[in-house]
Amino acid sequence: MIHIAIDGPSGAGKSTVAKALAKELHFVYVDTGAMYRAVGLYTRRHGASPTDPEAVAALLPDVSVTLEYAEDGSQRVLLNGEDVSLAIRENEISQYASAVSKIPAVRAHLLTLQRDMARTHDLIMDGRDIGTVVLPDAALKIFMVARPEARARRRTLELLAKGQDVEYETILAEINARDEQDRTRAVSPAIPAEDAVMMDNSDMTVEENVEAIRVLMRERGLLGAS
Ligand code: DC
Repeated sequence: MIHIAIDGPSGAGKSTVAKALAKELHFVYVDTGAMYRAVGLYTRRHGASPTDPEAVAALLPDVSVTLEYAEDGSQRVLLNGEDVSLAIRENEISQYASAVSKIPAVRAHLLTLQRDMARTHDLIMDGRDIGTVVLPDAALKIFMVARPEARARRRTLELLAKGQDVEYETILAEINARDEQDRTRAVSPAIPAEDAVMMDNSDMTVEENVEAIRVLMRERGLLGAS
């Protein structure tokens, strides 16, 4: 199986690029952030505090997160069988996801599922700890970054396009706060694996970014090798 790990902070364009590349290569795309978001959504729905590890851990036995793929390769996120693909993108859920992702029991719960998918599929998986924890033997690891302003601009446009009422300055502040939280947490901090290739896409188009990854795959003999 060929595994490509793409890690990096929120808004660095990981999912856009990973999705495009997976479609082209006929690999499965696994958005692990969506899984943390689903746990965050469940936590909010049950009125539990996302910063209370025991309360969240107690919910986990009732949380089943699965990913489904449509004909066109798009991913749907199911929480106990319910399609929550849209609900997990609400801005408030970002904070819930970030908080619950600090809880070791949550990470262990999702790690099993992520590794199971990797056992049986060529895939591109994006997240924060894919190269360091989930798929340490991935054939290619990329740590994708972009300037905070570029990320906030993309995120604002994305949310506005979805009809959400957001402001650039607020999004920028939230991105900086969430980065800090993701980077400094004790469990699986969002840091590059030692053997990851650093990629700054602030000034790249999506196609240029995809091509930069294709180049790395070609160099490693991963294109057309599956
Ligand atoms: O990529 P995203 O914004 O959808 O991720 C939501 C949150 O989940 C983010 O705050 C970090 C966390 N996360 C994580 O801890 N580990 C992952 N592999 C993916 C996401």
